Amino acid sequence: MWRPPAGQRVKHGPPDERSWPTADEAAQARLFAPLTLPSGLTLSSRAWVPAMVPWRASDEGEVTPAVIDWYRRFAEGRPAVVVVEATGIRDVASGPLLRAGHPRYLDGLKRLVDAVGAVSRGRTRLFIQLIDFLKIRRRPSPKRYFEEFLTLTTAHREALGMPLAPDAALRATLLDLPDEKLRHVLTHREYEALTMGARSRVTDLDDPEIAALPSVLPARFAEAAARCKAAGFDGVELHYAHAYTMASFLSALNTRGDGWGATLEGRLRLPLAVLDAVRAAVGADFTVGARMLCDDVVEGGTRPAEAATLALALARAGLDFLSLSTGGRFEDAAQPREGEAAYPYTGQSGYECMPGVVSDARGPYLRNIAKQAMIRAHLRAHGVATPVVAAGGIATFADAEGILARGEADLIGAARQSLADPDWWEKIRQGRARAVRRCLFSNYCEALDQRHKAVTCQQWDRLALDAPDVTLSFDRRRRLIAPRSW
Ligand SMILES: Cc1cc2nc3c(=O)[nH]c(=O)nc-3n(C[C@H](O)[C@H](O)[C@H](O)COP(=O)(O)O)c2cc1C
Ligand code: SF4
Repeated sequence: MWRPPAGQRVKHGPPDERSWPTADEAAQARLFAPLTLPSGLTLSSRAWVPAMVPWRASDEGEVTPAVIDWYRRFAEGRPAVVVVEATGIRDVASGPLLRAGHPRYLDGLKRLVDAVGAVSRGRTRLFIQLIDFLKIRRRPSPKRYFEEFLTLTTAHREALGMPLAPDAALRATLLDLPDEKLRHVLTHREYEALTMGARSRVTDLDDPEIAALPSVLPARFAEAAARCKAAGFDGVELHYAHAYTMASFLSALNTRGDGWGATLEGRLRLPLAVLDAVRAAVGADFTVGARMLCDDVVEGGTRPAEAATLALALARAGLDFLSLSTGGRFEDAAQPREGEAAYPYTGQSGYECMPGVVSDARGPYLRNIAKQAMIRAHLRAHGVATPVVAAGGIATFADAEGILARGEADLIGAARQSLADPDWWEKIRQGRARAVRRCLFSNYCEALDQRHKAVTCQQWDRLALDAPDVTLSFDRRRRLIAPRSW
């Protein structure tokens, strides 16, 4: 995980909570006031659990009993909305990431909806985040890269002064070349493939699969959304954020010259086409929202002023909510170890997405709210009332209430605090907030996510592991489900 430079580094404590409310105060609070979305769906409060991948699906992307347990546990805390983790719209191998890209996933998704519904009895709405992502390879060993992956070109031969040498001699020479020379002999993308692992980009128009994305993705998203509606979900969230395909189309880094990038209109074209196709597949009264970035954070990427323009266009096209996240891009990711893939939350943009306690003077709490509030104000200034979800370091009642009172957002997204204590919303509502298990913003959970290991919280991992009803991780050292603490 990226940290601010040594001179600016400050370690913060947990967020300051001065005013946990009584039950009567909570009953009057904005946080617990209902909200009706443009689709007509009424949310019981403003409490929102954003998508979090827990790495509990099967290797084929199927819902497992562990996935069901995970979401049932969030519903016990009675938030208005739980967004199910990023779920693939295609039927491609992607490890234990949920998938909705084939009719065979319908039954598992139905089981998940039914199980959560049995706990929440309609108080918590279940949305599902739909994602598309591009290919990324693990960082190879130099030997493997030069012997198996690199396609030799005349440019390599010329740069090495070996025009007629056999391929094997060329590959052996490259393998022995020091880094500073390799930077000149290899193209930028070849050098990246060697040092980071090869990664596709939406701008790779010489790759027929990438060139065809605009003609493929609207139907894939629409089919997956229709399947999720058939499974009984209350809504879908289109994943237009972080490092993935749709965010990369929206980004200022999308220089595609085929009409699907380069200008604001071009960058918006595919996200709008996907939204249109999804809407046509699910109808006007089914909730369709999107998560997008209020700031790419990386050099050359979309900054907040432009994000506001993109948000307005998407909201006007008929979104039922707009969830605003920050950063989480590949462009500034740290170098992975050999055999591992780059992870888009290891650079500064990743820090801004999931800010931790080792921070700068500003600290991790409400870190992105000003940008999110500016985007909401831009929508309102143009007469667009789309509800906005804020997230990033929100973990106290006072902060949640302040955001709502100041009109900075309409819904309060709290991911890690809800992971640390899924009951925290209900504890506040009942005036028992002193029993909230507070998130330490340590990012232990996020480190597990990075290694695609079952996500848990350091606060509950080792508590009473031998209690009778505890489900343990494969290594039997961690709880898979948050213990109750009241
Ligand atoms: C373990 C973990 C998994 C996450 N998975 C997703 C995801 O699937 N989709 C997504 O949009 N954001 C994901 N996020 C980001 C969160 O939704 C949220 O934006 C971020 O943690 C900041 O909010 P917080 O400060 O309330 O935790 C994940 C975060 C964590 C900690
Ligand atoms: S591991 Fe637990 S305490 Fe640490 S950031 Fe994640 S949810 Fe918060």
